[in-house]
Amino acid sequence: MTQTTKIFSSFQLGATQLPNRMVMAPMTRSRATNAANVPTNSVVTYYEQRASAGLIITEGSQVSAQGVGYINTPGIYTEEQVAGWKRVTDAVHAAGGRIFVQLWHVGRVSHPAFHGGELPVAPSAIKPEGVKAFTGQGFEEIPTPRALELNEIAGVVDQFRQAARNAKRAGFDGAEIHGANGYLLDQFLQDGSNQRTDEYGGSVENRARFVLEVVQAVVDELGADRVGIRFSPQGSSSIQDSDPVATFSYVTEQLNRFGLAYVHVIEALPGHPMATPGAPAVAAHLRKIFNGAFILNGGYTQQTAEEALANNEADLIAFGVPFIANPDLVERFQQGAALNAPDFSTFYVPGDKGYIDYPSLEEAVAEPANDVYHD
Ligand SMILES: Cc1cc2nc3c(=O)[nH]c(=O)nc-3n(C[C@H](O)[C@H](O)[C@H](O)COP(=O)(O)O)c2cc1C
Repeated sequence: MTQTTKIFSSFQLGATQLPNRMVMAPMTRSRATNAANVPTNSVVTYYEQRASAGLIITEGSQVSAQGVGYINTPGIYTEEQVAGWKRVTDAVHAAGGRIFVQLWHVGRVSHPAFHGGELPVAPSAIKPEGVKAFTGQGFEEIPTPRALELNEIAGVVDQFRQAARNAKRAGFDGAEIHGANGYLLDQFLQDGSNQRTDEYGGSVENRARFVLEVVQAVVDELGADRVGIRFSPQGSSSIQDSDPVATFSYVTEQLNRFGLAYVHVIEALPGHPMATPGAPAVAAHLRKIFNGAFILNGGYTQQTAEEALANNEADLIAFGVPFIANPDLVERFQQGAALNAPDFSTFYVPGDKGYIDYPSLEEAVAEPANDVYHD
C-alpha cells in the first residue's frame, strides 16, 4: 500500500467544498419502483448511507419521458419526482454530504414500450448493436430509432434546461450531464451513431454542437461551477468513433470556455469488465486539455486511486461498485478495513436486499453474524 493519502485531502470542486477525493460514481439501481418513477424511501436511505463520500453523483435521472430507457429509473421532470429527490438531498445534506444529480437522456437505447408504441429517438436511424432494452416484459430487442428532425433538437436541449431548473429546486448541489456510455449525447458525438448531414452531424464541430448546447442550457440554470459532464471515450459495444482522441479532445477544448466544475472520464483499468482492449488511451489527453477539475473512473482501488492522484492523472477518483457494497467506503479506506463483497444479482432488481442492507463497519462489529451475502 502506498504511503500517500491524498485521497483523504479536501478539494474545492467549483462551488462545492469536498472533504475528500472519493466520488461515488453514478449508478442506476432501478429502485424507483412506482409508475411515476419517483425516488422512494429506500432511495433516500441508500444515498443517506453514503453521505461520507466526497461527492455523490446520483444514478442517471431521465430529463423527460422521451429520455427513458429502463424500468424503475427515477425521473427529474415531474413535480412529484422533484419532491422525491428533495427528500434525498435533504437527507444527504443532514448527514453532512454533497450530491449532484446525473441528467440522462438515453436516446436510441430504449424501446417503444416506454414511448406509447413510438420509436425511440436518436441523431440518426442507426440501431445500437450488442444491447437490449429491459422493459416490463424482460429483455427485448431494440429497434432502429427515429432520427430527430432538425426542428426538434432545440426542444431536447430544453428538456435538459428544465431538468437543471428542477435539480436546483430539488436541492442538488449541482448536476452531471451524462455524456457517456452510448446514450443521447454520446450518440451525437461519436460518428458511428451520427450520420446527420445538417449542422449537428459530419464534422467534429457539428457532432459536438448538441453537447455544447446542452452544457450551455444547464450552465444557464445552475452556474458553471455547479455543472460537470461525463464521457466514456473508449466507447462500448454499442457505440464507436473513428477517431476518439480527436473527437473528445475537440469537445473538451470547447468546454474550457464555460468554466465547468469538472470533466469526468471513464477509462477502465486493464482487466476491468468495462475495459475495451485495444482502444486508444484518451483520458490522459483530456486531462492535459481541460482547464478544470478532472475525475477518473473505472476499476480503481484505494491503491490505484492514490497512485493516479499522486501522478496527477486526476484530481478526484470515482468509485462505482465499491460504493454499492460499502456505504462507508471512505471510513473503510481510512481504517484499512476489509470491504464487503458486492452481490451482482441485486444491482438492478426491486427490493431493499443488496440495496440498503450492506452493513457499515460499525454494524458489522456490532452484529458479526449479520452476513446478508450468503443467505
Ligand atoms: C449497477 C451499475 C449501474 C450503473 N449506472 C450508471 C449510470 O446510471 N450512469 C453512468 O454514467 N454510469 C453508470 N454505471 C457505470 C459506473 O458509474 C462506473 O463507470 C462503473 O461501475 C466502473 O466503475 P467501478 O469499477 O468503480 O465500479 C453503472 C455501473 C453499475 C455497476
